[in-house]
Amino acid sequence: MRICVTGSGYVGLVTAACLADSGNHVVAVDKDEDKITRLKQGECPFYEPGLKELMAENMRARRLRFTSDLFTGVSAARVVFIAVGTPARADGSADLSAVESVAAEIGKALSGETVIVIKSTVPVGTGDRLESIIASQTRHHFSVVSNPEFLKEGAALDDFLRPDRVVIGTHDDDAGDIIAELYQPFVRNNKPILRMSRNAAELTKYAANAYLATRISFINEIADICGRYGVNVDEVRRGIGSDARIGSHFFYPGVGYGGSCFPKDVQALASTARAADVACEILDAVHSRNVRQRTNFVKMVTDRLGADLKGVRLAVWGLAFKPKTDDIREAPAITIISEMLAAGAAVAVHDPQAMDNARVEFGDRVEYFDDAYDALHKADALLIITEWNEFRSPDFDRMKAELNQPLIFDGRNLYDTQTAARYNLEYYSIGRPSVRPA
Ligand SMILES: NC(=O)c1ccc[n+]([C@@H]2O[C@H](COP(=O)([O-])OP(=O)(O)OC[C@H]3O[C@@H](n4cnc5c(N)ncnc54)[C@H](O)[C@@H]3O)[C@@H](O)[C@H]2O)c1
Repeated sequence: MRICVTGSGYVGLVTAACLADSGNHVVAVDKDEDKITRLKQGECPFYEPGLKELMAENMRARRLRFTSDLFTGVSAARVVFIAVGTPARADGSADLSAVESVAAEIGKALSGETVIVIKSTVPVGTGDRLESIIASQTRHHFSVVSNPEFLKEGAALDDFLRPDRVVIGTHDDDAGDIIAELYQPFVRNNKPILRMSRNAAELTKYAANAYLATRISFINEIADICGRYGVNVDEVRRGIGSDARIGSHFFYPGVGYGGSCFPKDVQALASTARAADVACEILDAVHSRNVRQRTNFVKMVTDRLGADLKGVRLAVWGLAFKPKTDDIREAPAITIISEMLAAGAAVAVHDPQAMDNARVEFGDRVEYFDDAYDALHKADALLIITEWNEFRSPDFDRMKAELNQPLIFDGRNLYDTQTAARYNLEYYSIGRPSVRPA
């Protein structure tokens, strides 16, 4: 099938590469000329495991092409995906300006019957709105289908190629069949393709993200209670997670969720609720607990080292909002490091992938180290903010040799407290008893 994907970000590029890989001819469009130039040269503009290689294979096979000319891409396509960003506005609602402007451009470029698929995360009713925007620009027959994306950065290819489910929201059966056919190669393991109304599909995406964010905020609140009563949250997690109704996935206490989805989607759903006069106490609480989680971590550091951090040098391991990505959008590390800098600390940072993005964020306000242990040199403490695998089994002796004192604030509970005690560390984590050197 001839496909055009508008927006070549995390979602658009993964969609384009995976659909090309199953035999479709895909043109990926972006308005960012510089990004398109890099993509044409085979460069992936962000880090996502396996994506660069998949792009290269499909570019070689001439099934995947890139352009900044939306008109050409759209006019030749049977199916057009919208995968542009939907960031949060200041009031928390979703900013639909990119989605609406790309819809108008698509409308102008249609040259025949086309299915337009909204992959961006958009509030309920957006499909109706885009339908009228596109209709105002074209006389050709088209259908607007909602097909929200559930991939996780860091595991995006696997999630796209082996989804738990595919959601297709439309009342147009023919358009729904075309999109279902596109996804057939990815659901050969009998995972469901769920057909529903367009509004239900739009809401499903927000409800899924809001629920996952709720689990994180819930376990963070339980961890806070555990911490105050000297209880180890790991034991409680095991105790509740083994209940089949609850399960242990997505139940890790830490510095809270970040990234380009959960923070904005929780707030956008709350805004959708408020617009319809629905009280949304849970969503508001999920968000405020998440904000508090970062503040609590900062307090943990300043309680130990003092509110005035002038003359204090801190090492930070982990900047990306989660492991296996270079994405630092809404990352807890940004808030925490900014607070440390504001309190006067000197900050040395290391992340396996996110250093370039961090340079854009922090400039020369922090020092960057390609080697994790170099970042520790003469630091008064280590702050762990992202749970990269390579931080899980470090050389504790080397850490101690580099640090001024063996002091670790672990925002992701990477080490068990017995290990910390065995290495004679002073170790603070989330919802677990602190460890002090003998
Ligand atoms: N990132 C994720 O993990 C993820 C997962 C599921 C769903 N989503 C949703 O998917 C959507 C896209 O997210 P993303 O992370 O890929 O965004 P992104 O910011 O990485 O990419 C968006 C791209 O769209 C381009 N763009 C904007 N306006 C355009 C236009 N008029 N024409 C062509 N290109 C245009 C931008 O230049 C950018 O490259 C959002 O709604 C997001 O909520 C994201």
